[in-house]
Amino acid sequence: MSLPIQDYALLDDDECDVRIAAAKAQLGSRCVILGHHYQRDEVFKHADFSGDSLKLSRDAANSAAEYIVFCGVHFMAEVADILSRPEQIAILPDLAAGCSMADMANLLKVQKCWAELAQVLDVDSQITPITYINSAADLKAFCGQHDGIVCTSSNAQKILEWSFAQKPKVLFFPDQHLGRNTGYRMGIPLEEMVTWDFNKPMGGLTEAQILNAKIILWNGHCSVHQAFKPEQIDNFLARYPETQVIAHPEACFEVCQKADYVGSTEYILKTVRAAAPDTRWLVATELNLVNRLHEECKGEGKNVHFMSPTLCMCSTMFRTDPQHLAWVLENLAAGEVINQIAVPADVAQFAKKALDAMLVAS
Ligand code: 13P
Ligand code: SF4
Repeated sequence: MSLPIQDYALLDDDECDVRIAAAKAQLGSRCVILGHHYQRDEVFKHADFSGDSLKLSRDAANSAAEYIVFCGVHFMAEVADILSRPEQIAILPDLAAGCSMADMANLLKVQKCWAELAQVLDVDSQITPITYINSAADLKAFCGQHDGIVCTSSNAQKILEWSFAQKPKVLFFPDQHLGRNTGYRMGIPLEEMVTWDFNKPMGGLTEAQILNAKIILWNGHCSVHQAFKPEQIDNFLARYPETQVIAHPEACFEVCQKADYVGSTEYILKTVRAAAPDTRWLVATELNLVNRLHEECKGEGKNVHFMSPTLCMCSTMFRTDPQHLAWVLENLAAGEVINQIAVPADVAQFAKKALDAMLVAS
């Protein structure tokens, strides 16, 4: 019988540390812990591998472990399940760790959009559907079924290039900002990137707008990254003009336009780590990552600042705490699998097609 979460809820973090380490030692190479860069320190320190979504997808695909414990959010554990071997088990320590952006698109709405677009043009020969990896498995399967593909924040340009080599147009969901920022960097003018409002008939677009568009952007966004504003950059630069600005591409167009560098969480870490000592950085991405980077770099005299004056943590990433991690690991050590993420086989088959296409193209 599994050990209940109630037994863990009141444990303090230090006690959890000891119990996590003991369960990990007992499980040995049978278990691997993957940690996304946005995880809080108390969880992040237990990860065997950390990374952005692309790196963690590859880590999951290459893992030999029996259990893949994903300290991240739901779509990441689904990807681990889809890309791992059938006998491997993906586990999400807290099942409530979702992604608000991923929830902004669902299969019914995307199917409706596809059917409406089909009233205007031949979708099969004209449009490649691309889903950002921050999406449910059935949307990845939709892409797999329509010769589409998945992208992450670190390979979005390569995936758009791959798509335009197949067909003239792209439907990009759920994050409008990643699509717009990447498309613009590739030289696509803003007027050729239209936004599909999924609450309106025909996305709120005219037939002419759809026919003229190269990229149709789903009207989704990340609630964390929308807190970063261009005026925050202006105010900071007025005080510290030497600052270099770096942003995640989920931030809005105006922020990314003002940034010196734009890239995934892994790219942000690499860029700031490789920078000269005594440089100053203003960073537009989630707070846990920025705080850790600040601590890591201050010894070299580097100043790493968070862009927003208000705190913006990913509240769903934050749901994974040491108590939940101890809970799933001790259950595994006792032979009980809890919080398994298992994507149904019919969905996984087509989602894998779109994920494999991404891994080959990037
Ligand atoms: P990365 O792939 O850059 O880690 O981004 C994932 C994410 O959810 C950012 O909000
Ligand atoms: Fe989703 Fe935004 Fe959290 Fe990333 S930061 S997991 S996009 S809610």
